[in-house]
Amino acid sequence: MLIALCSAKGAPGVTTSGLALALTWPRPVVLAELDPAGGDVLAGYGRGELSAGGLADLVLAARRGGLARELDAQLLHLDAEGHTRLLPGLADPAGARHVDWDRLATLLTTMDGGTVDVLADCGRLRAEYFPSPVAHRAAAVVLVTGSTLRAVRAATHALTELRERDGGPGMQATLVVGPGEPYGEREISDALGVPVVGSLPRDGKAAAVLSDGAPAGRLFAQSALLRAARTVGARLLESAAAHELRMTPPAMPASASPAPAGGSGVR
Ligand SMILES: Nc1ncnc2c1ncn2[C@@H]1O[C@H](COP(=O)(O)OP(=O)(O)OP(=O)(O)O)[C@@H](O)[C@H]1O
Ligand SMILES: [Mg+2]
Repeated sequence: MLIALCSAKGAPGVTTSGLALALTWPRPVVLAELDPAGGDVLAGYGRGELSAGGLADLVLAARRGGLARELDAQLLHLDAEGHTRLLPGLADPAGARHVDWDRLATLLTTMDGGTVDVLADCGRLRAEYFPSPVAHRAAAVVLVTGSTLRAVRAATHALTELRERDGGPGMQATLVVGPGEPYGEREISDALGVPVVGSLPRDGKAAAVLSDGAPAGRLFAQSALLRAARTVGARLLESAAAHELRMTPPAMPASASPAPAGGSGVR
C-alpha cells in the first residue's frame, strides 16, 4: 500500500513523522523520500554516515530503462531485519525536475507485488515539482499539520488544492503533530472535513534523534513519539485498507455477468 505524506507549508514534521511511522510500521515498509526540495534522512537520522545514490540514481537508471531493477539496489536498511528500508531523497533538489514521478508512482504502488508498504514523504504541497502522480495514486494522502490556528488555516487551503489538483480515489486524512496548541483532533477534523488518523506528541528529544541524528538513548524505542507512531501507523493502515475496500466495486456474481458479444458463450 502506498501512503503519501505531505504538508501545507512550514515544517510541521513530515520527515520526522514519516521516519517515526516507518520505524514502528506493523509490516515491511519502505520510506521513500520524494520531497522535491531534497531528502533529509541521510544527513539527519543517518548523521552523514550512510550513503546511497537513492532517488538521484533512480533517475539515471530510468534514462537507461532499468528503473524497476535499480530500485532494490538503492534501498538502505534502517534495521537489522530489513523490515524498514529507506529510499534516500535527492541530495541536490535541482534534480527534481528530471524525476518521472508517474513511472515512480507505478513502481511504488506495486513494490514487491504489494507485500511491502511505501510511506512517501512528498514534502510541501505547493512546491515546484511536487510528486502529484504519487499523491494521485496513493491509497491515502496524509496532510501533516500542527494544531495552531495558522497551521489549521493553511491545512484547509492545502486540502482544497489537493482535492482539485491531485485528488485520486485514495483516502484523504490529516496527522496532527503537537495536538492541543490549542486545537484537538476533533476540532481539526471538523474544520478540515477529513478524518484525523491520529496525533504525534511534541517530543523534542526523540524528534531530534530522527531529524538530526541526536544520540538515541536506551529509552528511544519507548519514547512518547515512537509509542504514538506505532498506534497511528496501525490505525492509518486499517483506515486506508477500509477506504480501499469501500472504493472497490463489488465483484459481479457469475450468473449476472453479461454474455460475451456474439453468442451465449456456452457451446
Ligand atoms: N513530534 C515532534 N516533536 C518535537 N519536535 C518535532 C516533532 N516532529 C518534528 N519536530 C521538529 O520539527 C523540525 C522540523 O521537522 P521536519 O524536518 O520533520 O519537518 P518537515 O515538515 O519535513 O519540513 P520540510 O518541509 O522542511 O521538509 C525538526 O527540528 C524536528 O526535530
Ligand atoms: Mg521534510
